[in-house]
Amino acid sequence: MKTMLFSPGPVMVEDKVRQTLLHYDICHRSPEFEEMFVRLQALILKIFEADDSYYSVVVSGSGTSANETCLSSVFAPGDSALLINNGEFGERLHEILTKHNVPHINYACGWACDPDLAQVEEYLKNDESIKYVCAVFHETSTAMINPIPELAKLAHKYGRRIFVDCVSAAAGQHIKAAENGIDICTSVGGKCVGAYPGSAYVCAKKEILESLTPEMGKTVYLNLAKHYQMAVAKHQTPNTPNVNLFWPLEAAMDHIINEEGLDAYIERHKECTKIVRDGMRELGLRFLLPEEKMSNTVTSVFLPEGKDVAAFIKRMGDAGYTVYAGKGKYYDMNMFQVATMGAIYPEDCRKFLEVLKTKI
Ligand SMILES: Cc1ncc(COP(=O)(O)O)c(C=O)c1O
Repeated sequence: MKTMLFSPGPVMVEDKVRQTLLHYDICHRSPEFEEMFVRLQALILKIFEADDSYYSVVVSGSGTSANETCLSSVFAPGDSALLINNGEFGERLHEILTKHNVPHINYACGWACDPDLAQVEEYLKNDESIKYVCAVFHETSTAMINPIPELAKLAHKYGRRIFVDCVSAAAGQHIKAAENGIDICTSVGGKCVGAYPGSAYVCAKKEILESLTPEMGKTVYLNLAKHYQMAVAKHQTPNTPNVNLFWPLEAAMDHIINEEGLDAYIERHKECTKIVRDGMRELGLRFLLPEEKMSNTVTSVFLPEGKDVAAFIKRMGDAGYTVYAGKGKYYDMNMFQVATMGAIYPEDCRKFLEVLKTKI
């Protein structure tokens, strides 16, 4: 059944973006692909508000593949990481680092809890092997925004770098990669940019990418050095990419940067979220987090006590709206999540609220 996606990915896609799926077939070893790839790379830098000291590559895979590409490629023997872990996607980064045998401090400060910056500084002071602080910009499982500028400052104070999973943040929040000094960041088409899942991308400081070798990478496919070297040499990808998803990714980003404008795009998402949250407050629903900690796009909210969250999600689905069940312990606490990402407009949010009123 066709529903409106108020879920944090996949998201609603503009018709003009969807139409690009019908682009005629091209070969990824052709000048036409190379030209489109170069345009896309430039758009990616703009989405992250990066400058020309950065470079971007596209990885055919989900958001996790972009994170895994970075975290399995940038550590040399003897290096370690400091992971700020306060939710499901922090846990995912922990899993990736563990799987690739990257030694790391897993600073698990508790889901939805603020990392203690003094503690972070202590870790950095006492362990010279830490090469990267790793963190999630928007911890989607709670909807919390982490203090990335502060973490980046601390990392740089001690001569370290910062990797930031921006999978659910890019184009929903201002990332300001250059201003905040984010060294490496990632995202994927099927989130706030309003394209499709499976088209992930990485933006990183050129000097880092220059320093990598394919041998440092722990996998064949998710190998950042290979992606970078192939992109620089030929404007291509090392393996056969999902060419058909490059067109909608380019169209979605072109819409944001060259038509609606990044500021206006983010403002629209904020406005939509405000409408949803104001309506929920009127219904007496309780949020997981105080307003100032929540992202521009996702709201984590509890159903009234005694209601069954699975049944509620089904009722919403039957009425044409997809919302998300809370993750982990929050599911048992009757939490659900509503996202306004991609092609969602204020009028859609007002209609959504009308339905929500009758289904809780
Ligand atoms: C912050 C964050 N990181 C990573 C991921 C994983 O992305 P994917 O499911 O596309 O692999 C998600 C997915 O929602 C996410 O929100």
